Amino acid sequence: MKATAKAHTNIALIKYWGKRNEQLFLPMNSSLSITLDQFYTVTTVKFSGNKSEDVLFINDCLMGGAETKKVTQFLDRLRTISGIQLYATIRSENKVPTAAGFASSASGFAALAAAAVKALQLDVDKKELSQIARQGSGSACRSIYGGFVEWQKGEREDGTDSYAVSILDEQDWRIAVLSVVLTSQPKQVLSREGMKRTVDTSPFYDSWVKEAGKDLTVAKAAIQQRDFSMLGQVAEANALKMHATMLGAQPPFFYWQSATLEVMHRVHALRSEGILAYFTIDAGPNVKILCEPENVPVVSQNMEKLAVVEAVHICYPGPGVSYVSATEANE
Ligand code: PMV
Repeated sequence: MKATAKAHTNIALIKYWGKRNEQLFLPMNSSLSITLDQFYTVTTVKFSGNKSEDVLFINDCLMGGAETKKVTQFLDRLRTISGIQLYATIRSENKVPTAAGFASSASGFAALAAAAVKALQLDVDKKELSQIARQGSGSACRSIYGGFVEWQKGEREDGTDSYAVSILDEQDWRIAVLSVVLTSQPKQVLSREGMKRTVDTSPFYDSWVKEAGKDLTVAKAAIQQRDFSMLGQVAEANALKMHATMLGAQPPFFYWQSATLEVMHRVHALRSEGILAYFTIDAGPNVKILCEPENVPVVSQNMEKLAVVEAVHICYPGPGVSYVSATEANE
């Protein structure tokens, strides 16, 4: 009753922002992401009869109540489905630089879902696995697949039609995503809390839902046509619209730092010089930049020159969830 799975993180080009059901993690809008090759989580789950609670280690550190509770709640659903009432030891290795502004929750819950269903010998397909991962962290449902992925929001109350689907495999379009790490790391409003506040109070929220639907159509067309500037433009505009909803929330909030704006301006300056680069920003101050592979050196050099930039990680589309042997996992 033991299995190990590996899942990569993803960056949304059309953002998921707002839930229609908090318990089931059902989103108000569909979203679209790229799974990234550089950052991933490897998780081993082992169920056994001699435990009275789940035990969670992340990067070899024993985790406390809050983190373990989330994992226990997540595994409780699978214990109910499988009828196996055993607790587990969960060992998770995160190769996701938390300072890079990537939430490890996407790769974390995707790897946990995959390892747990295998350890419990549940016969689930990728669609069901995506639905299971969604209930740990919304964005995790997209990390089941590699490359370009759409999370279809679904309509049903029970969430059975809310899961991710593959749009294009990772080898079919190689575009670069540069993760620009900034020096200061302020305290953030967690995405869960930020989404809720925006849905409940922002007068801009209804427009966001409408715009996200239109942006998704454009992004999918851009991917089918391999039209990089069309995809970059709609991704940048979509990120800005998501951030605009927060300015209208009560109390208002925003994630940008002066360093964030500096990078955004630099991206626009590059574009005015004819280099196609576009930014996107999640629920944090760090910026991700999309560009074509031939422009990676010039874009990364430009970013590294900025005093506010601590590091630039270069990523490309990466694979979906996979199973690995314990030996591979330890390498
Ligand atoms: O699923 P969460 O709680 O990690 O929320 C993700 C929210 C954004 O990163 C801002 C957007 C997205 O679609 O990933």
